[in-house]
Amino acid sequence: MTEDKIIDDATETIAQSEGKVKPSRKLYIESYGCQMNFADSEIVASILAKEGFTTTKSVTDADVIFLNTCSIREKAELTVRNRIKGFRKNKLKNRDLIIGVLGCMAERMKKTLLEEEKLVDLVVGPDAYRDLPNLLTEAEGGQKAVNVLLSRDETYADVSPVRLDKNGVSGFISITRGCDNMCSFCVVPFTRGRERSRNPLSIVAEAKDLCAKGYKEVTLLGQNVDSYRWNITNKGDVVDPSIPTTNFAQLMAMVAEVAPDMRIRFSTSHPKDMTDEVLHTMAKYNNICKYIHLPVQSGSTEVLTRMNRGYSREWYFDRIKAIRRIMPNCAISTDVITGFCSETEEQHEETLSLMEEIRYHFAYMFFYSERPKTLAERKFEDDIPLETKKRRLQDVIDLQQKHSHDFNRDMVGKSTVVLIEKLSKKSDEFLCGRNDQNVMVVFPKEDYQIGQYVKVKVEDCSSATLLGKVTGISTTAC
Ligand code: SAH
Ligand code: SF4
Ligand code: F3S
Repeated sequence: MTEDKIIDDATETIAQSEGKVKPSRKLYIESYGCQMNFADSEIVASILAKEGFTTTKSVTDADVIFLNTCSIREKAELTVRNRIKGFRKNKLKNRDLIIGVLGCMAERMKKTLLEEEKLVDLVVGPDAYRDLPNLLTEAEGGQKAVNVLLSRDETYADVSPVRLDKNGVSGFISITRGCDNMCSFCVVPFTRGRERSRNPLSIVAEAKDLCAKGYKEVTLLGQNVDSYRWNITNKGDVVDPSIPTTNFAQLMAMVAEVAPDMRIRFSTSHPKDMTDEVLHTMAKYNNICKYIHLPVQSGSTEVLTRMNRGYSREWYFDRIKAIRRIMPNCAISTDVITGFCSETEEQHEETLSLMEEIRYHFAYMFFYSERPKTLAERKFEDDIPLETKKRRLQDVIDLQQKHSHDFNRDMVGKSTVVLIEKLSKKSDEFLCGRNDQNVMVVFPKEDYQIGQYVKVKVEDCSSATLLGKVTGISTTAC
């Protein structure tokens, strides 16, 4: 039986056990943007499973097509718009087909896609997924269905996600929603609303459930995981003295303890909030991966101030020093934006010099894209010419590639523990998976299986991957 079929059968059973069997309808859902959006699609699939929906990978089979969208840069929005236009063709063949936009573009798309261009039937924001069954009924009745209200407390804590990933090895758990940081370039506080943390007991229960289902890795997700707090106000006061308080370090320890055979990862750390307590907790548990994604955005304190990031170049270096002191082997990756408002050539050079000093293992790199409603859009001029933004981006990419390559070359001849995730894209004769430090490792398949931890001796590398040979099964996750 395929895994698709298992999920389909499971969702069918949920609908039947609740006594509201409707003829099975098929949902096709396509996700864009960050891992939180992918995790949200699993919440959506779960909410609709209770209405008798099963998921399909084929657009032509679908009764409902959802695009779970991202607004982070202009290009992401253009991609979605073109995709919707493509889906409209399916509507010519199936007039009952419902096309909906979910996620971070919902607020803005409401006006253009639904009301003006009439390209979609339904628009639903990230905090309104519980309303989907009603909205679908409205859309099926020919009404334009919209709910883009943001919530101060929705965390979908009680919704058990229908896992849409196909490998059954890595699962994601959202621990916070929204963001209160107001970085001046960023649209997320507007698309996802205020930050709220999810009940730690529901997080631990979900981790246990993944473990029981045979998953081998869990990633705890939040826009700023370090600001996770339960039963503590943002001023640090205890809300209810009769229950324990939980911060991010404590939450991570709880998850590491209930799932000792699983690897624990998390994303994203924020330099202004990442504490030594978090680093000591990582060091203490062998199953917490020694990998931190710590977006710097810029190496210039002046630019960081304009970005409203809440830290300076010096503060960032101090956090890197703390990571290296507490976990000498910890891999560090980052995000960089080039060509932010009024960035000078000297300030760009400061980003390069910071990268040179830190030597990241990996980086996601972007040129600045102005977003509506953000502080930067209202206060600063987007005054760096596109060619300059792109040229600076290329400088950053070239430097990072060199560092990634150097780092991977240092691994040649060494042994590393890999969690096998899937067949290699290039050949069915090879498997691949990531090591503790999040580097992709490719090796001959032999008789090894997806989901196993294996020791791999690294023989060769590129800037993106390590190549090697399995020397045996690993008894530990990392
Ligand atoms: N919460 C995370 C980042 C979420 S968005 C954090 O604070 O680090 C992921 C990345 O997209 C950001 O780190 C940033 O590098 C990039 N990004 C966000 N807004 C952008 C914009 N307007 N233009 C270009 N890149 C942007
Ligand atoms: Fe955006 Fe800043 Fe929040 Fe990250 S921390 S999501 S960059 S506002
Ligand atoms: Fe994009 Fe929304 Fe994530 S804007 S990056 S999908 S929070």
